[in-house]
Amino acid sequence: MTIRLALFALLAASAVLGHPHLEYHATPQVYKACIKPNDIALTFDDGPYIYLRNISDQFTVVGAKATFFMNGNNWGCIYAADRIASVQHAYAAGHMIGSHTWSHPDLTTFSAAQIQDQMFRMEEAFLRIIGVKPGFLRPPSGYYNKNVQELAAARGQSLALWDWDTGDADGNSTAQSEALYDVVANGKVKNAVILQHETELTTATTLVPYALKLFKSKGYNLVTLAECLGVEPYQATGKPQPQSTSWTCHGTPAPGKGCGGAIPCETGTPKSS
Ligand SMILES: *[C@@H]1O[C@H](CO)[C@@H](O)[C@H](O)[C@H]1NC(C)=O
Ligand SMILES: *[C@@H]1O[C@H](CO)[C@@H](O)[C@H](O)[C@H]1NC(C)=O
Ligand SMILES: [Zn+2]
Repeated sequence: MTIRLALFALLAASAVLGHPHLEYHATPQVYKACIKPNDIALTFDDGPYIYLRNISDQFTVVGAKATFFMNGNNWGCIYAADRIASVQHAYAAGHMIGSHTWSHPDLTTFSAAQIQDQMFRMEEAFLRIIGVKPGFLRPPSGYYNKNVQELAAARGQSLALWDWDTGDADGNSTAQSEALYDVVANGKVKNAVILQHETELTTATTLVPYALKLFKSKGYNLVTLAECLGVEPYQATGKPQPQSTSWTCHGTPAPGKGCGGAIPCETGTPKSS
């Protein structure tokens, strides 16, 4: 172990002091780009939403893989019956599922307990719904600080950013987003992590078909983020849990909000079975 790594382990350990069941797992990684040449990871944030199944199926039909960074309580509740089913559908199709926090806050404005709560609730939801412990967290808007990085690492999660943004949820027209795909494809870039949003109708109906056709025609491999990095998408995989009345968004942080007050902060580790 190098001195730098040892120091980091110490910092990460001290960040979780007082929560003895959390263990230090790995050096915190922040990935902004693919590593393998010729790989493109198309990543979709802010779901699960009503277009998830359609986007998932469009990738499946052409033998491509997508990556979805999901919230628990943002554009609806992940525990709604149709959302549970579509998350299971996308996971079963081999697409990658990662955390995008519970309620989509700016994590850099949160306390350590509030940050952990945002991570805990997604870990719990994924263990329940698809039986996995996520290996990646995409911080909302890409905003993170040292605290976020260390707490993610302590929970075994790397941070997933991107190097190309379609702007599909930022007011870019579909033509502008398509122009961005063209820049990537025609510029013969080595590889790319591209940001889209699962919550935009035009992303599902226009951008996804456009991107799939374009990148396939240029000979790129459309793979998950984990695959283009050559790492595992999950810390652990297992069986989903039996559904119960505790699967609810009631009494959890509202969109953009954190725990505290009437909502206790969950800072531990969710039950894995
Ligand atoms: C996705 O939805 C569009 C628009 O409703 C539809 O035309 C298309 O066939 C769907 N694709 C898949 C793979 O389900
Ligand atoms: C919007 O589209 C333009 C043109 O393709 C691109 O340069 C820009 O990065 C896109 N993203 C955002 C967030 O506006
Ligand atoms: Zn987002």
